[in-house]
Amino acid sequence: MHDFTHDPRFAGIEPFTSRVWLASPTMHGDEQRWVDEAIQTNWVSTVGTNINEIEKEIASFLGCKYAVALSAGTAALHLATKLAGERLYGQAPPSRGTLTGKKVFCSDVTFDASINPVAYENGEAVFIDTETDTWNMDPGSLRKAFELYPETRLIVLAHLYGTPGKMDEIRKIADEHGALIVEDAAESLGAAFFASADGPYKENVREAGVVEHIGMRGAWLETGTLGNYNCISFNGNKIITGSSGGMFLTNSKEDADKVRKWSTQSREAAPWYQHEEIGYNYRMSNIIAGVLRGQIRYLEEHIKQKRAIYERYRNGLSDLPVRMNPYDDEHSIPNFWLSCMIIEPDAMASMVRGEQDYLWKTEPEKSSPQEILDAINAFGAEGRPIWKPMHMQPIYKNHAFITREGNGRGRSNAYINGSGADVGADIFRRGLCLPSDNKMTVEQQDKVIEIIHRCFK
Ligand SMILES: Cc1ncc(COP(=O)(O)O)c(C=O)c1O
Repeated sequence: MHDFTHDPRFAGIEPFTSRVWLASPTMHGDEQRWVDEAIQTNWVSTVGTNINEIEKEIASFLGCKYAVALSAGTAALHLATKLAGERLYGQAPPSRGTLTGKKVFCSDVTFDASINPVAYENGEAVFIDTETDTWNMDPGSLRKAFELYPETRLIVLAHLYGTPGKMDEIRKIADEHGALIVEDAAESLGAAFFASADGPYKENVREAGVVEHIGMRGAWLETGTLGNYNCISFNGNKIITGSSGGMFLTNSKEDADKVRKWSTQSREAAPWYQHEEIGYNYRMSNIIAGVLRGQIRYLEEHIKQKRAIYERYRNGLSDLPVRMNPYDDEHSIPNFWLSCMIIEPDAMASMVRGEQDYLWKTEPEKSSPQEILDAINAFGAEGRPIWKPMHMQPIYKNHAFITREGNGRGRSNAYINGSGADVGADIFRRGLCLPSDNKMTVEQQDKVIEIIHRCFK
């Protein structure tokens, strides 16, 4: 382990007195009121006023008709993916998933909870490469995937680190192929996308009310309303938290009722426990819903703080050969959940990484994600590597990976130099997530920025 405290490049930098986190829960005290109310009235299980009210508040904030409160974002994604499979291919027997034998086009650079439900439902994830403008699913690679697997009818996509993807383009491609979308807005609650008045979201735009924005006509639509089946998470590291929790979001009463039924063990209307479908214990507790009733009031404030953190990094690092995680400022307003940076190819110092250990070298005017992560950690701040792309995960190593050029696997050749583009692998190699906790002070962030500068000395 490198000794940063005796490395002359870091002379004069004192360790943080308390740890600076990547993204930790931020409680305000108001949460207590709704939790106490649940306890005092004895409504502490998976029924109660807090659940009903937070469902209404979230639906109204996002501009959708129904929200179903669940135990986790993963639960929401599972039921959303199962429902998509059932709508496409019919009800499955209890021992088989609704996507049995079917391919599903999936975001590649995301947390595995986005796409594991495809496997829970016995489907086969096909990973779609990432674009460089927003670090989300690349429409060009998605088009290519439909050329290769035209029978595919389902897309599962996430908005990475709170930055909306290219939804007008993706929805258009999905519509051309009669495909449905499961939208994972776990990281992007409160982020919005400007959908065109004559694009594939024209119905949603009409309902939301057309506005002008830098010469374009359309409407700002919230992430979490852009798929056929939509999910958010209230995990402890998210922009607001219930300590855990998630929601399924929809405009269809039938879909909301179905997910609510599945989440409470699929009980049929009978005097005894009777079941015609497989059930799950996925409903949110009224206590967690109470925490959320306190938290939702702070969503806008948290987004403001996260944006300020992102902008301070962007300004503070602008003299280095690095860039921040990008977003399309004409078509999107991110929630800036995590600030990330990527090192320019020419400024990458040598680094090799294995599962258990890694090596990096100091090189003048260069650095590497691992050096920066080690340096900020040595002084007491938490960063993290970029989410490792799904196509590089051991569990999914035999699954197809599609880039703009077609099959993204097996592209090297012992006899010909060079290999195909793999945007996700490149972001993973050169990028990192920076401490983005909304309680981080300006002084603490300035020190993180200074440490990063010293890494490039
Ligand atoms: C993109 C993404 N999807 C899904 C999840 C899963 O949500 P949960 O932890 O609430 O199950 C997370 C985070 O935890 C996430 O970051």
